[in-house]
Amino acid sequence: MAESVCDVSSLKEGQARVYRVNGKHVAIYFDGEDVFAFSPHCPHARANLTKGTFQKDAVRCHWHGWRFSLQDGKGLNNDAELKTYPASIRDGEVMVELVEPEGQPKQEEGEDSFMPEIKWKN
Ligand code: FES
Repeated sequence: MAESVCDVSSLKEGQARVYRVNGKHVAIYFDGEDVFAFSPHCPHARANLTKGTFQKDAVRCHWHGWRFSLQDGKGLNNDAELKTYPASIRDGEVMVELVEPEGQPKQEEGEDSFMPEIKWKN
């Protein structure tokens, strides 16, 4: 079931923000047209990916340059995989399905401890 995360008007084009939804931290990136939801933790060494560089539907980690597709989480210059979630805009609200898709890495317990830009929801 999709969860309402925020109003799309609260997002800035070209930037990502972190929200806590049902106990999980989820980063939402808005490219001006579509939204992408993913774990804010880089699979390499857990840098905050919302501080990375976004290009279309990909993010480049600002620590060591690993790049990931925001469509499916696949590493673009590495073999790691970023956790992603299905996201859409419905009636001006960003909706995210927090299911754990088959084959995607699970968000580890305790890995959310460092996130500095969190807006609480629910
Ligand atoms: S922590 Fe992201 S590439 Fe190293």
